[in-house]
Amino acid sequence: MNWFDRAPDKCFAIHEDASSTQDTDMSEQAGPEDDYEETGEGIEGADDEDSDYSDSSDDNAVDDNTQHEMENLQRAFHGFTNMYRLIKRIGEGTFSTVYKAEDLRYDHYDNSWDIEKDSEKWSPPPLKSYPSTNTSSMTMGGSLPDFDQRRRKRKYVAIKKITVTSSPTRILNELELLHDLRNCPSVCPLITAFRSTDQVVAILPYFRHADFRTYFRNMTVSDTAIYLRSLFTALSFVHDRNILHRDIKPTNFLYDPSRRRGVLVDFGLAEREGTDCKSCMCHDDPLLRKSRLRAAHDANGAPHNGYPKQDTRPARRANRAGTRGFRAPEVLFKCTEQTTKIDIWSVGVILLTILSRRFPFFNSADDVEAMIEIATIFGQKRMRSAAQLHGCMFETTIPTIGTTGFSLERIILWSTCRSDTGEELTPDEKTAVSFLYRCLDLDPGRRISAEEALRHEFLRERSVDLGAEEEEMDILAV
Ligand SMILES: Nc1ncnc2c1ncn2[C@@H]1O[C@H](COP(=O)(O)OP(=O)(O)OP(=O)(O)O)[C@@H](O)[C@H]1O
Ligand SMILES: [Mg+2]
Repeated sequence: MNWFDRAPDKCFAIHEDASSTQDTDMSEQAGPEDDYEETGEGIEGADDEDSDYSDSSDDNAVDDNTQHEMENLQRAFHGFTNMYRLIKRIGEGTFSTVYKAEDLRYDHYDNSWDIEKDSEKWSPPPLKSYPSTNTSSMTMGGSLPDFDQRRRKRKYVAIKKITVTSSPTRILNELELLHDLRNCPSVCPLITAFRSTDQVVAILPYFRHADFRTYFRNMTVSDTAIYLRSLFTALSFVHDRNILHRDIKPTNFLYDPSRRRGVLVDFGLAEREGTDCKSCMCHDDPLLRKSRLRAAHDANGAPHNGYPKQDTRPARRANRAGTRGFRAPEVLFKCTEQTTKIDIWSVGVILLTILSRRFPFFNSADDVEAMIEIATIFGQKRMRSAAQLHGCMFETTIPTIGTTGFSLERIILWSTCRSDTGEELTPDEKTAVSFLYRCLDLDPGRRISAEEALRHEFLRERSVDLGAEEEEMDILAV
């Protein structure tokens, strides 16, 4: 069956099956993305959920505002109350509000998308009696589930209500990409979507996860490798289909540390590689690039400190979508031919965050500050070469930016307060750092790919460990 079969008669199925090559309109994206910044980190929902991990809990008190919002949503979509029982708000980002809801008609459909169904075949009903009709959940939910439904484990979905001011092209792009990425165990699949006038909602399986801030400081190197393996599994699948996620960050990778599983969400900024792209020098042969740079240098003279008052050069336009602190250097240098490697840089930032126990690691207000932060670590010399790759100059007189910068080992020892004690990184940490260098290579052409990452000893060895662990669990289960 196709994934729109769930759409009730009165709602529009907003998408017909697979027109897989439609490109997004970058000019429409440029506006909001220029201002796009990280949000959603302070959302309480995930914390509530993770503090008790109780998928069957009904102790989900919601404030009046949320209650009102949920009622409006139920009203906007005819027949919704028979399909979903809205429970609470679990996320509010720049482009959407996300609610947790019970899937009341789960058993009526083909659920081949359900990545959890084998691990959750049945569970006993909750000890307390089924919620009485005076709970908020029942007023939202409408009809009482039947006896069978009470006996099976309840099924939850995440309802992503996309902000009505989002451009239709952008909404369609997100849904199409999700549709194309179905069948990957580490990418959160799209179950269905509804539209009512200008309101679109996407229905995704609810994935239990913990707030990154609650666990990243306690992660061992081995935990980190397992986390990254899960993330790179998703990315290798996404990149293999020539899709850039563009917004890799902890809130978009929902990870459950107890099950050591994660899923990648939020394809709101994702795009197909090559969309609205003009050739950039970084893809040229190094010799050709050098001669082009030399010619430009001879024509314009040596670079001066400061900036020209009347800059006659044409403005450079490039997609800068993403979250501050996680943007790759080529995005900051406005590379016009960005690749899937921008996502690898963002994973590198996550790894640096975990190893240094600092979140957020980069905390810039804008792109210039972001460049300064990166330059402080990598030094002027390497930053200059990185800029030249894209035909840019990088010059600074900021005294704290040294010529050669600092090693990542040193940064990690500093931020974990070990530099004064003369302590060194553990052998495991050293392997992690060697991998980190491959993710945080300023040159996207040399940066590791997701597929190579899965073969790197840092992730490969841990996968052997994990295999042994799983085998042990299988034996226990027999
Ligand atoms: N399938 C899901 N299961 C559980 N929680 C989810 C799911 N999808 C989203 N969420 C929660 O909602 C939050 C926001 O979702 P998402 O990132 O898709 O929206 P967004 O509006 O694009 O957010 P942002 O602008 O912050 O990136 C997530 O960080 C997560 O906490
Ligand atoms: Mg998000």
